[in-house]
Amino acid sequence: MKLLEDKILAEGRALSTSILKVDSFINHQVDPDLMNEIGKEFARYFKDCHVTKVLTIESSGIAPSVYTAMHLGVPMIILKKQTSKILNSNVAQTNITSFTKGTSYELTLSLDYVNENDTVLIVDDFLANGEAATGAVRLAQTAGAKIAGIGILIEKSFQKGRQRLIDQGLNVYSLARVARLDEGVIEFVRH
Ligand code: G4P
Repeated sequence: MKLLEDKILAEGRALSTSILKVDSFINHQVDPDLMNEIGKEFARYFKDCHVTKVLTIESSGIAPSVYTAMHLGVPMIILKKQTSKILNSNVAQTNITSFTKGTSYELTLSLDYVNENDTVLIVDDFLANGEAATGAVRLAQTAGAKIAGIGILIEKSFQKGRQRLIDQGLNVYSLARVARLDEGVIEFVRH
């Protein structure tokens, strides 16, 4: 998606060979016009997949997911990283290990909102090693739902996430595919 690639080139900063900082429009400050266009694009791409719910992982996946859900005309569900006392029955949980952050957490889905009649689209901001997306897939499958696909804003194509998801037979649509990062260098996969 040219709009997103241009924004990444204009405002993104490669901090190292592995980390891209996009705090000014995705991770901290959010650009609502860009999120709306992203939502439109995901809705266009997945329009024939009979999506009934959009699933995302808090927190940076929420903004693009709301717009995607709005353009598909379906609800959006936030997979929670912290369980609250009022969300402790009828839930599915799975452990996620983040290699980028060196942490792990329990991801929770309320089974009140996803069941075997659903076809879900999973949307997230980054795809690195695919830990978070694979966890979201596990939760949706535990609920009995079908998976329409995975929509990603920024895929770091030099990491193994995409291949891991494709190996599970999943349809992965990434709007920006980063081939290489280095201090001051951001290169995309050629179309
Ligand atoms: P994975 O799920 O694909 O394996 O990714 P990983 O565990 O390595 O990533 C963990 C967190 O780090 C995720 O955010 C992910 O979005 C973020 N992340 C991964 N690579 C980058 C990067 O190059 N730049 C930035 N800005 N973030 C990256 P999170 O912990 O879920 O945080 P948030 O959604 O609350 O922002």
